[in-house]
Amino acid sequence: MSDQARIDLDGQGFEAEVFEGTEGERAVDISNLRANTGLVTYDPGFGNTGAVKSDITFINGEEAILRHRGYSIEELSEHSTFIETSYLLIYGELPTAEQLEGFRNNITRHTLLREDMKPFFDAFPPDAHPMAILSAATSALSTFYQDHYDPNDPHDVEVSTYRLMAKLPTVAAFAYKRGIGQPYIYPRNDLDYVENFLHMLFAVPAEPYDLDPDVVTALRTLLILHADHEQNCSASTVRLVASSQSNMFAAISAGIGALWGPLHGGANQRVVEMLEEMRDSEESTERFIERAKDKDDPFRLSGFGHRVYKNYDPRAAIIKNKANQVIHKLTGDDPLFEIAAKLEETVLSDDYFIERRLYPNVDFYSGLVYRAMGIPVKMFPVLFALGRLPGWIAQFREMNIDPDKRIGRPRQIYTGPPLRSYVPVDQRA
Ligand code: CMC
Repeated sequence: MSDQARIDLDGQGFEAEVFEGTEGERAVDISNLRANTGLVTYDPGFGNTGAVKSDITFINGEEAILRHRGYSIEELSEHSTFIETSYLLIYGELPTAEQLEGFRNNITRHTLLREDMKPFFDAFPPDAHPMAILSAATSALSTFYQDHYDPNDPHDVEVSTYRLMAKLPTVAAFAYKRGIGQPYIYPRNDLDYVENFLHMLFAVPAEPYDLDPDVVTALRTLLILHADHEQNCSASTVRLVASSQSNMFAAISAGIGALWGPLHGGANQRVVEMLEEMRDSEESTERFIERAKDKDDPFRLSGFGHRVYKNYDPRAAIIKNKANQVIHKLTGDDPLFEIAAKLEETVLSDDYFIERRLYPNVDFYSGLVYRAMGIPVKMFPVLFALGRLPGWIAQFREMNIDPDKRIGRPRQIYTGPPLRSYVPVDQRA
């Protein structure tokens, strides 16, 4: 027999079933609360609301655990490839060699963009933020690939999966080339996923581009570390848009918009800008920390804090371990890394941050690694989006076949004026 929770109100009781997830998390099912009591719940930012049952990703924020389909992020980032981890997220199991080959081939065959999509990139101002181009172009893919985008047709969902996995790196690289005024570089099917992206990003027609194996390895690890993070702001956005039966391109375009913000995937850009400001400022690092603690100052330390992790973000721990070595190998010593390490040390011994359990998150060191690879700061959130794509696709697909799915439609508690009579304009004070 399952446990019951009870709400008592005005002499009446409401019993709600309590159920448990695989890892022992307990939840109260309040899906009939309003029908039985007239009450709704109030939970700004959804900090206590489980909107889905999901098999994809498990996080224990207190113990710094992150697992995809049961596999730890430490193992995946050490042994897997980005394409294999994507397969795992999307289909639920690690692929056999044959399945992996098939998945890779399907993606490789779809990397080109339709030629008549190219002028679309030229239309953006050269200083456009690449996340805006990424989101707009992803939405625009739905106008070029209308043949297979019905979310209720499993074959169409499969084709959209390949198309998005294959074309998003091309779109991202074109967005970058637009910004720096270089010719767009076409995908190369003889390269793997990460190599091909770096080729499209950094090659120019005038000379051969040599891939640096250290850059390839570092980017592969970073993409795996970003691949999914259960019901975060952008994944929830993807699910919310998809819940109205919008196509996958529309849902993921919206997810990119959600990711762009500095509290989410835009934080990696903000961290490096903040560290540069600290380097160039007359003020001490301690002064920045004081400002972050001051409630009257909107400044926060980017790259610290997390809704779920009340411990060191396991992704940040992996990046930090590798960052110094990768940065040193690629560019020599980086004064920004030293500022970051000092900032972390000071923050972790400061009562304000200790009491609130604020630790470095995934964005704190990732930007420094991207920077050492020669990637400009505005592209950092784009790299986060490329990494997060398989997670968004997995969340979209899981929701699509969920027997409990309903259109996403939160309630509200209205606090505006009560009924009043319309006053003609000439009689208004
Ligand atoms: N600097 C200073 N104070 C902070 C910070 C910070 N970075 N983060 C949280 N706090 C304080 C906050 O002011 C609050 O204090 P009080 O209880 O006195 O009001 C307390 O810590 C709890 O914070 P919160 O805003 O209620 O926490 P949240 O779960 O709503 O927000 C967050 C989480 C990530 C948006 C927030 O920690 C933050 O703004 N961090 C900086 C931006 C950042 O690095 N974002 C990347 C997140 S990780 C990658 C991803 O998932 O996108």
